[in-house]
Parts: sequence; structure tokens; C-alpha cells
Amino acid sequence: MMRTPLVAGNWKMNGSQESIKALLSAISSGSTNLSGVDIAVCPPAIYIPVVAQILAKSHIAYGGQNVCEKEKGAFTGEIATSMLLDFSCKYVIIGHSERRSIYNESDSLVAEKFVAAKQAGLIPILCVGETLDEREQNITEKVVARQLDAVTAVDNLDNAVIAYEPVWAIGTGKTASPEQAQEVHAFIRQHLTQSNADIAQKVQILYGGSVKGSNAQELFAKEDIDGGLIGGASLDAEDFLRICQAAV
Ligand code: PGA
Repeated sequence: MMRTPLVAGNWKMNGSQESIKALLSAISSGSTNLSGVDIAVCPPAIYIPVVAQILAKSHIAYGGQNVCEKEKGAFTGEIATSMLLDFSCKYVIIGHSERRSIYNESDSLVAEKFVAAKQAGLIPILCVGETLDEREQNITEKVVARQLDAVTAVDNLDNAVIAYEPVWAIGTGKTASPEQAQEVHAFIRQHLTQSNADIAQKVQILYGGSVKGSNAQELFAKEDIDGGLIGGASLDAEDFLRICQAAV
């Protein structure tokens, strides 16, 4: 099964109008001749209109880093799926480990957000992954299965993307080895096969956690790794482009 790889940049809470313009212009011009990889960036919500304007006719897609599970109304500080769509977002990251751990998003809230995103027509990038403590306790598969099951109990993973991001590898410079990552990716695909074999084969499973230009190739070479969700390195045009090239 041929899955088109996806490389998505998660800019987190970084950037300014000025830095974003420079970054996008370098990424756009450096990737115009790159085919066989889907590329996306997820800016802080306030910059989505700026990004939308710059990328209006571009091959680069963009999306949100988070979204509210509610449709509209009295939810101060939140952003609705319809608002992301109003600026032509294609993707939205759901359940990033920073949202889960710092903002206490539970498995069930993550599942609600996933459903809201899909119903609206956005492609959710569902993040799953274990902490260091959980890996050391040998419960990685159990944790990832629990995070997936919370979503598959209420929806399917058609028109969705999964990002496996071991929490201990995020922003730490510690990358999972290609073998460690592949092991969990294969587990995820096999686990999803139990509910729907077609979707399990089709769904892109990205790896995230300290992916850089220098280690992307060996990770993306693995059978079940279909690209990456890139934090730190997505803020550097040259490094991000190297990662995109490694996915082809
Ligand atoms: P990192 O972040 O590449 O900086 O480790 C990845 C992520 O959190 O999505």
C-alpha cells in the first residue's frame, strides 16, 4: 500500500508576522519542485490569517494546533472548527502531548475534539505517545492503545492522520531510534486493523519527537512511518526542507 508521506510543522508558540513571512517564503521556494510528499504548517492561531494569505495558491497546506470541541458560543479564548475552515485550514493537531499534560486534556476531551474536527471537514492529526515513565514500565502499547481506543470508540480514522510522539523525545533532542519508532507504528497499525483493516492500511502514521534533517531519512525509511510531525526543526527553513526531502 502506497501512502503519501506527510511532513507537518508544529510551530507551537513561536514566531512573529515578520519571522513567519521569511520562513514561509523560504519553505515555499525550496519545495516547489518537491513531489511525492504532502507538506503542512501549523502556526499559532492568531497567525493563521497571515499564513492563509501567503499560502493561498501554494502547494503547502496549513492547519491549527488545537480546536474547541464546541461549535460556537460562550467559550472565552477558544477557537471553533468553523473558524479554522473560514481561513481554509486543512488540518488540525488534536491531543498534542503538551495539550494533554499542561492543559489537562483527557482522552475523552481529545476524542470530542477529534469528532468535531472530522465533522467539520478538517483532517485531524491525532497525537498519541507514552511518557518516559510509561516506557520504563513497559506499558507503551497499553497507553497508545488506550489513547487510540478513546477515539475509535466514537469515530473512525478515515480522513485522519496519527502522530506517534513519545513524550520523552519531544523537544529533548532524544529521538526514538528508527526501530523503536517502527515497533510502535506497526503496533498502531495492527491495533487499528482490529476495527477496520482498510483504514488501518490507509492512515498516515507520522513520527514526532526531535526529528531533524540529520535523522529524518532513517526514520522515514521504516515501513510504517509515513512522515513526521516536526516541532523545533520546523522553525528552521533549511532543516525543515531537508526533512521534507527525506520523506520523498
Ligand atoms: P520536536 O516537537 O520536534 O521539537 O521534538 C515535536 C512535536 O511536539 O510535535
